[in-house]
Amino acid sequence: MRKHVDFLIIGSGIAGLSYALKVAETGTVCIVTKAKAEESSTNYAQGGIAAVMYKPDSYEKHVHDTMIAGAGLCDENIVRITISESTKRIKELISWGTDFDKNKSGKYDLAKEGGHSEYRVLHSKDHTGAEIEKALLTQAIKHKNIEILENHFAVDIITQHHHGVEVNKRTNDITCYGAYVLNPNTNQIDTLLSKITLIASGGIGNMYSNTTNPEVATGDGIAMVYRAKGKTEHLEFVQFHPTALFNPKERPSFLITEALRGFGGILKTIKGVEFMQKYDARLSLAPRDIVARAIDSEMKISGDEHVCLDCRHLNKNDLILHFPTIYAKCLSIGIDITKEMIPVVPAAHYICGGIKIDEHGRSSIQNLYATGECACTGLHGANRLASNSLLESIVFSHRAALDSKSKVRSVEHHQAIPDWNSEGTVLNEEMILITQTTKELREIMSNYVGIVRSNLRLKRAMDRLEILYRETEDLYDKSILTVKICELRNMINVAYLIIKMATQRKESRGLHFSLDYPDLIK
Ligand code: FAD
Ligand code: SIN
Repeated sequence: MRKHVDFLIIGSGIAGLSYALKVAETGTVCIVTKAKAEESSTNYAQGGIAAVMYKPDSYEKHVHDTMIAGAGLCDENIVRITISESTKRIKELISWGTDFDKNKSGKYDLAKEGGHSEYRVLHSKDHTGAEIEKALLTQAIKHKNIEILENHFAVDIITQHHHGVEVNKRTNDITCYGAYVLNPNTNQIDTLLSKITLIASGGIGNMYSNTTNPEVATGDGIAMVYRAKGKTEHLEFVQFHPTALFNPKERPSFLITEALRGFGGILKTIKGVEFMQKYDARLSLAPRDIVARAIDSEMKISGDEHVCLDCRHLNKNDLILHFPTIYAKCLSIGIDITKEMIPVVPAAHYICGGIKIDEHGRSSIQNLYATGECACTGLHGANRLASNSLLESIVFSHRAALDSKSKVRSVEHHQAIPDWNSEGTVLNEEMILITQTTKELREIMSNYVGIVRSNLRLKRAMDRLEILYRETEDLYDKSILTVKICELRNMINVAYLIIKMATQRKESRGLHFSLDYPDLIK
């Protein structure tokens, strides 16, 4: 099937939906999303969204905290843009129906998380992301110009390469004409031709054994841009959340929000001994890279499989009122958080780098924008400040929408694009080849490219990855495409970029900590 739209959007989290609602004023919009529309990291965000709302907070303080977290690699211009536009974008989310909690005096109830010097995190109990996703999706579903194609998997973006023009990294007019998309109704690859395309495909967590990310987070958009010879950046900076619920049979790992530490939860060993004083004066509320490394180190010292978060001293009613989802989840596995400590471990949570974009959300490929977690704006530098990612997504989707709307009239659909050619491929009847390789990939990334790295570990990771890469490319070329083989191929591509960029970084900085460079640049 061939389809023509003005705007094609890959992904239906906060980045894709907020962009869609804006560009739909100007033209037809098609959102392809690989699962149910709400299935996204956005939907699972707990803590909230950082923004400057009231004094004594100020844009300057939020800028300062963001730059400190970023360990010298933030782009100050981008940080200032994001933060000075935060209040307006929050008001817009509210106007679309997002309900943030208020306190008794009617003001927004702002929380504090690691690395923030002020209370500035807007939230909706401990299910902020679901509240935002619901509001945006409700608006998108009722918009007459927006079509949402669920369970449709974008395989590759289309460029001139697909009609026989050679493209390499130095080609400066690589242009995007849409995407090839796997249609679940026909099992065929559709050709979706667009004037403007936005990649909003989220994160990469599933290439690690432990992750807070939903199953859909497999780095697809980043891999597509890499294959199309677009620019990517800062992928070595993988953020591990310090406190995912330790529940070994569960994937993804359930997040225990940092806001719970902001509320007074204290990290302790299994024996009930506090340890953060050994690592940072800010104790349990130190930035999350410091906390994650501290937990990693405590687990290595003790040999324990997890540490604990102690909330037993907190007011029981307030605890349940503010964290109903966490209370219910823990209770469902037999832990009453008002009486018992919560077992927690670090888990892959967020990728700071991604598709390189400018201040208008433009990638290095013409007519292709990227926003949200798959993009690298320069906001986070070497480490992301908690709750800055939902904010970054709405700010840059807004900016990308403004730019796209001004551009769309001057772009024509490309008619000479051929349909997908699946000649010579057969159904792969050995799913074990994919599941086993995925497992191996996760082990390589977790053991060698995790919280603590070294030159030797990275070399070993690259050597092992090379084998998985060759085997998977071979299988991909021969197989009728399925979502699972495409996801595996994408994760291998992104793993390559992470390991390559980590190897090139001859220092420890922010989230990239290497035993060979013990002096961490903060
Ligand atoms: P997502 O919301 O992940 O959406 C990506 C979309 O792309 C999905 O719809 C997916 O199905 C689709 N997709 C992916 N690949 C394809 C493909 N090939 N074809 C078609 N569709 C595709 N950040 C904060 O700021 N505050 C928080 O409190 C917070 N809490 C978090 C808690 C958890 C458990 C997690 C996992 C993350 C949290 N984050 C938080 C991070 C934040 O939620 C994400 O960075 C943000 O939601 C990303 O939004 P997005 O729109 O870029 O991607
Ligand atoms: C959390 O609620 O701890 C996650 C916040 C974030 O990832 O920004």
